[in-house]
Amino acid sequence: MPLWGDFLTNDGRIVHKWKHYFPAYERHFSKFVNSDVVFLEIGCGRGGSLELWKRYFGPHARIVGIDIDSRCRAFGDGDQIEVRIGDQSDVGFLQSLIDEFGPFDAVLDDGSHVMSHIRASFDFLYPRISRNGVYFVEDLHTAYWDEYEGGLRRKASFIEHCKDLIDELNADHARGEMQPTAFTSSTLSMHFYDSIAVFEKGRTTRKWAPQVGRPD
Ligand SMILES: C[S@@+](CC[C@H](N)C(=O)[O-])C[C@H]1O[C@@H](n2cnc3c(N)ncnc32)[C@H](O)[C@@H]1O
Repeated sequence: MPLWGDFLTNDGRIVHKWKHYFPAYERHFSKFVNSDVVFLEIGCGRGGSLELWKRYFGPHARIVGIDIDSRCRAFGDGDQIEVRIGDQSDVGFLQSLIDEFGPFDAVLDDGSHVMSHIRASFDFLYPRISRNGVYFVEDLHTAYWDEYEGGLRRKASFIEHCKDLIDELNADHARGEMQPTAFTSSTLSMHFYDSIAVFEKGRTTRKWAPQVGRPD
């Protein structure tokens, strides 16, 4: 069932999502449906979203939820849904998840929405997701709100970091003014919606063939 229909008819645990997120989820996550995706959701809330992802991705998927609230442990189902308790900004904890579950194919950050936490998770996890992985950050309206360490054009805001990453994505063309990075060579695309940033990996070759097709 499409995610949106499932969300509308869900009478199980509460799912806390904005309506316009659903087309974006379908666009970026549908390639993992019925695959053996290892999916990490940061922030379990009332547990309904973990069940939604399980139904959406199908019987081979492994859904990992993390939260600082130990009551979320109850959302593990002993089958496809695993919950671990920890802080999304604690890289030791994040490493323990990779040690236990292997690299994630997709990450959805719906945790604290605090800029330094989003950044800590992204900086650690993005380089470690699989080579065609997807990293999805939602509720980025907080990037404009002081109480989440955000603010319009404030350097600490994750949206401001995304603006820098656009340059990093294009660093090969900066005529030496900036050096390409692992982000440059591994990132296929970046996408923005109201309150959402999505990063898709997918490069395994040079961006142009030697001698041929190189843009002037
Ligand atoms: C918006 S709710 C998640 C909603 C859920 N994903 C859904 O769609 O229904 C945010 C969750 O993030 C958790 N959280 C807050 N700070 C956190 C942190 N530093 N690390 C991990 N989880 C955190 C909260 O306890 C809360 O359960």
